Amino acid sequence: MALDESLLYERVAADIAALIAAGALRPGDRLPSVRKLCRDRTVSVATVLAAYRKLEGDGLVEPRAKSGHFVRRFERPLPKKTPARPRLSLSPQRVSVSASVSALLESMRDPSVVPLGGGVVDPELLPIRALNRTLASLARELGTAGATYDMAPGLPSLRRQLARRSLSWGLSLGEDEFVTTVGAMEAMHLALRATTRPGDTVVVATPTYFGLLQLVEELNLRALEIPSYERTGLDLDALDRALSQARIAAVLCMPTFDNPLGALMSEANKERLVRTLAKHEVPLIEDDVYGELALDGSRPRPAKAFDKDGLVLLCGSVSKTLAAGYRVGWLSPGRFAERVERLKFSMTLATPTLTQMAVAEYLQSGGYDRHLRSLRAHFAVQVHRYREAVAQAFPAGTRISEPLGGYVLWVEMPRGVSAFELQAEALDRGIAIAPGPIFSARGAFPSTIRVSCILRFGPRVEEALATVGDLASRQIERGRRLDVA
Ligand SMILES: Cc1ncc(COP(=O)(O)O)c(C=O)c1O
Repeated sequence: MALDESLLYERVAADIAALIAAGALRPGDRLPSVRKLCRDRTVSVATVLAAYRKLEGDGLVEPRAKSGHFVRRFERPLPKKTPARPRLSLSPQRVSVSASVSALLESMRDPSVVPLGGGVVDPELLPIRALNRTLASLARELGTAGATYDMAPGLPSLRRQLARRSLSWGLSLGEDEFVTTVGAMEAMHLALRATTRPGDTVVVATPTYFGLLQLVEELNLRALEIPSYERTGLDLDALDRALSQARIAAVLCMPTFDNPLGALMSEANKERLVRTLAKHEVPLIEDDVYGELALDGSRPRPAKAFDKDGLVLLCGSVSKTLAAGYRVGWLSPGRFAERVERLKFSMTLATPTLTQMAVAEYLQSGGYDRHLRSLRAHFAVQVHRYREAVAQAFPAGTRISEPLGGYVLWVEMPRGVSAFELQAEALDRGIAIAPGPIFSARGAFPSTIRVSCILRFGPRVEEALATVGDLASRQIERGRRLDVA
């Protein structure tokens, strides 16, 4: 098979895998006949056969004699249900998650540990070599680049590329509406400091990414947790109640593919969120780091698209799609631009020049959209296979999220399981998982873990998931024996 042909079959396989992961093709559905697919995609029979063989190898489809290929049925139906709804408490919390998070981060630094708890994408899936070559040739060509501070708002060529990309996000931001930052984390740090004072209350979703809770903790803010659901995202009725009962300085959340639920707020709900907050003059800090990683391929509009008052501060980065270590991110700060630029000066003075240049050049080169398509298709397959393995290996009654974007699973086990104990037991066996309580200011979700589908699915992952599932079952068994005794 020629080289082009071999790339082609992977693309055909990835497209079908994405349809399966998105539920457009369901277990038991018949795939198009080889002849039809050849016609539809204008590819050869060899390409379609190779694509179907790949899907078979990935465990997604099965051939049936004389009938064609079918989406595989699972031995045990995948648990459907969304993790249970957390209860709403309207009292703001002092946050304290740092110690448990440090333990997780430490386990992530050990390369011998199976990284089911981390968030860093496998380098083999990223165009990191091309990006590094771009960086090297820029450094060579522009001999003195990096000698001076690249003051806020940051490198013009990168901001120009971001402005262009914002069209593909469904809004239109000018290059002067961006400040470049050291990753999305600095963007959120700047946004929080620009909109709050120590002691203020900010709304966060529950569950939410522990990095955001740490920020809230470090800035001496109080977190008011509003439930987030897998199907709909942030509970807007609960937010309405909170806004009428407490003084809220800002709302910090992920309307598009949140971490850890993979939830997506509908456009109508994003609009309602932005309008409600505008009515109360409360800024929305929107973490959009997973915005490009829809598992069905589409790119939802950020809530920022509905902002008429400059009250939405949109935070993003290339960490999840290109290079986490480049630390290139951005903030579109709306009406807080001046304050953000002053803060940026006092916090990090400037964003490193060369990595911004390399990202700008990469974005301009035009390969980014193609890369995103294959990354999304890859994650669609990964998430599907991990879900399947968790469903097989974990105790009966376990509920697994069905993320619409990103690459993490929220796995809620029966109450007899302690996520912290499970984390320690798994780590003893060389496996890192993220315990549920670190995703909540109140330490909720005691029997839930987050599983990241970042390592390519294969025997190592399957074995690790089987081990964690087995440890969880043993905990339940031990609990039962104690109950009886
Ligand atoms: C939801 C979320 N926001 C922000 C970050 C950090 O982004 P960055 O590397 O751009 O600072 C992460 C990293 O895992 C994340 O999961």
